[in-house]
Amino acid sequence: MENIIIREERECEWFETEYMTKRAFWNLHMPGCNEHYLVHILRYNNDYISELSRVAEVDGKIVGTIMYSKAYVMDGENRTDIITFGPLCIDPEYQKRGIGGKLLENTMQVAREQGYRAIIIFGEPEYYPRYGFKPCDHFNITTKDGKNFDAFMGIELAPGGLDGVKGKFYESNVFDDCNSDKADEYDKEFPYMEKLKLPGQWA
Ligand SMILES: CC(C)(COP(=O)(O)OP(=O)(O)OC[C@H]1O[C@@H](n2cnc3c(N)ncnc32)[C@H](O)[C@@H]1OP(=O)(O)O)[C@@H](O)C(=O)NCCC(=O)NCCS
Repeated sequence: MENIIIREERECEWFETEYMTKRAFWNLHMPGCNEHYLVHILRYNNDYISELSRVAEVDGKIVGTIMYSKAYVMDGENRTDIITFGPLCIDPEYQKRGIGGKLLENTMQVAREQGYRAIIIFGEPEYYPRYGFKPCDHFNITTKDGKNFDAFMGIELAPGGLDGVKGKFYESNVFDDCNSDKADEYDKEFPYMEKLKLPGQWA
């Protein structure tokens, strides 16, 4: 197994991380993808948590990233601050070698040490349960629209981290700002890749 370094991103690597993100998500959920634009705008957003976010480096190359941001749960007037992440992605040529798991476990430990109580995400329901994530109905937490589904998951970072917490989950507005028109414009900065309509895409 190669030497995998998990560390904070340097500003001189922003483009490299975004291009890796583009390759990881391209044509995965829809023709093309918006995630490299999300990475770009997230770093400038007040909700971005740079001290938790990490890149994975192998042989001097950025091969993965996980980016965290502030989120919260509202129960009437009661607000509980928590965190979320996204994107988490690995260069397609480096997937299934444990790098995604390393990024996740490393940053969950840092978040635990920094006193964050829980993480809630929208993600692959087949992937995250192996790291302890459970569907959010287990915690009496719904989406902001009052919904629950398998891809909406959470994990307590300390035992009882979500005790007494219930309500609706809100993530940063940056996720709403990440629309396809702006992403398509930003994508012109990157090497061209063909958009394809493929089976299994959501849109
Ligand atoms: C999902 C992703 C981050 C996992 O990273 P990785 O480094 O490839 O994963 P790891 O090597 O740590 O774990 C590999 C295991 O996860 C499984 N796995 C990987 N991607 C999966 C997915 N999308 N759904 C279900 N299982 C998945 C593999 O089958 C493997 O299982 P095994 O150990 O039983 O063989 C990576 O594949 C990726 O970037 N995918 C494209 C972008 C994406 O979907 N990101 C997540 C958005 S929620």
